[in-house]
Amino acid sequence: MRQDEVRDDMATTTRGMPRGVPGDAAPAEAGAGVVTTPDILCQDLVRIFSTDGVEVQALQGLNLRIDPGELVAVVGASGSGKSTLLTILSGLDRPTGGSAVVAGTDLLTMGRRERLRYQRYTVGFVWQQTSRNLLPYLTAAENVAVPLAITGRSRSHRAARVNELLELLAVGHCRDRRPDEMSGGEQQRTALAVAVAGSPRVLLADEPTGELDEATSVEVLEAMRGVNAELGVTTLIVTHDPTVSEHVRRTVQIRDGRTSTETLRRTEVDEHGAEQHVAEEFAVVDRVGRLQLPPDFVASLDLRDRVRLALETDHVGVWPDATADRRRAEQRDETNGDDR
Ligand SMILES: Nc1ncnc2c1ncn2[C@@H]1O[C@H](COP(=O)(O)OP(=O)(O)OP(=O)(O)O)[C@@H](O)[C@H]1O
Ligand SMILES: [Mg+2]
Repeated sequence: MRQDEVRDDMATTTRGMPRGVPGDAAPAEAGAGVVTTPDILCQDLVRIFSTDGVEVQALQGLNLRIDPGELVAVVGASGSGKSTLLTILSGLDRPTGGSAVVAGTDLLTMGRRERLRYQRYTVGFVWQQTSRNLLPYLTAAENVAVPLAITGRSRSHRAARVNELLELLAVGHCRDRRPDEMSGGEQQRTALAVAVAGSPRVLLADEPTGELDEATSVEVLEAMRGVNAELGVTTLIVTHDPTVSEHVRRTVQIRDGRTSTETLRRTEVDEHGAEQHVAEEFAVVDRVGRLQLPPDFVASLDLRDRVRLALETDHVGVWPDATADRRRAEQRDETNGDDR
C-alpha cells in the first residue's frame, strides 16, 4: 500500500515537504488486497464534560485506527484528551458521540454485562499510579494470579502462567515481594504482567512511566515492547513524553482532542550494511479529507482564516491567501498614515 493512499478512515501524508515521494513505512501493512479488521477503531469520537454549566470538549471528533498486534503511542500535551480517550477505551466512561469499536465490541452500545466481560477478557490496563495497578497486601505472584482466578483457569495453569509472565517481565526475583518491597519500575513491570495475565486482545496504558525516572522509564517501555512482540497483544500507550516514539514504530500526536500527526519509525540498512532508524512525520487526513496543519507551518507562513489550495499530479499545494495579505498590509499602511 502506498503511504499517501487513503485507508478506510484516515490516511497519512508527508510533512516537511518537498521531500519527494513518501516512503513505504505505512502502518499495518496487510498485504495487497487484504482488508484487516482493526482492534481499535475510533471514528469522530466526541466526549463533552459538563460541570456547573461549563462544557469542556475533551475529544473533538477523534479518529484512530490500530490494527491487531500493533504497538502505538498516543502523545500530547496536558489536557489534550489522552486520559479521556483511554478511559473510554477501557470501558470506564462512555463517549458523547461518534463511534468506538474495540476487538469487535461497540463501546457506545454495550450493556452492563457486556461491559464486565469486556473489562475482564478483552482489555488489560496499566495506569500511571503504581498504587492503582497492584493490590498492596498481595505479593507479585499473587497479584498476577488474581485475573487468572477470575477467568477460571486451573491451579496448575495459573502457577505456570504466573511464572512465565514474571520471567518475561524480568521480575521473577520479586515473585514473593509485596509492592512496597519493589522499586517503581518493578511495580510497573509486575502491573504489566497483571494486565496481560488474562490474555486480553488489547493492552491499554495511561502514562505508565509518569512516576518513573528516565532510565526506569526506558526499562518499562522496552518491557511493553517485549510483551507486544512476545504475546502479540495490540498495545496502546498514552503519554505526554515525546521520547516514547523511540520505543514504538508508530506515534500518533493528539492535539485539542483530535489526532493531528503521526510519526513512523522504520529501520533501514545503509550501503555499508549498518542499521539506521528513520523517523518520518505525517499529517493525518480524516474520512472527509480534513487535516490539521502543524503549528510551525501555520506560523512560518502566517496562514490564517483561509488558504489557497492547488491540486498537482502528485501533491497538493497550500498557499497563504494573497488577497487577505494585501488587505492586511493596506490596513497597516492606513493605520500608520493616520498616526503620522
Ligand atoms: N471528569 C471530568 N470533568 C470535567 N472535565 C474533565 C473531566 N475529565 C477531563 N476533563 C477535561 O477534559 C480535558 C482533557 O482531559 P484529559 O485528562 O483527557 O487530558 P490528558 O491529555 O490526559 O492530560 P494530562 O497529560 O494532564 O494527563 C481537560 O480540559 C480536562 O480538564
Ligand atoms: Mg492524563
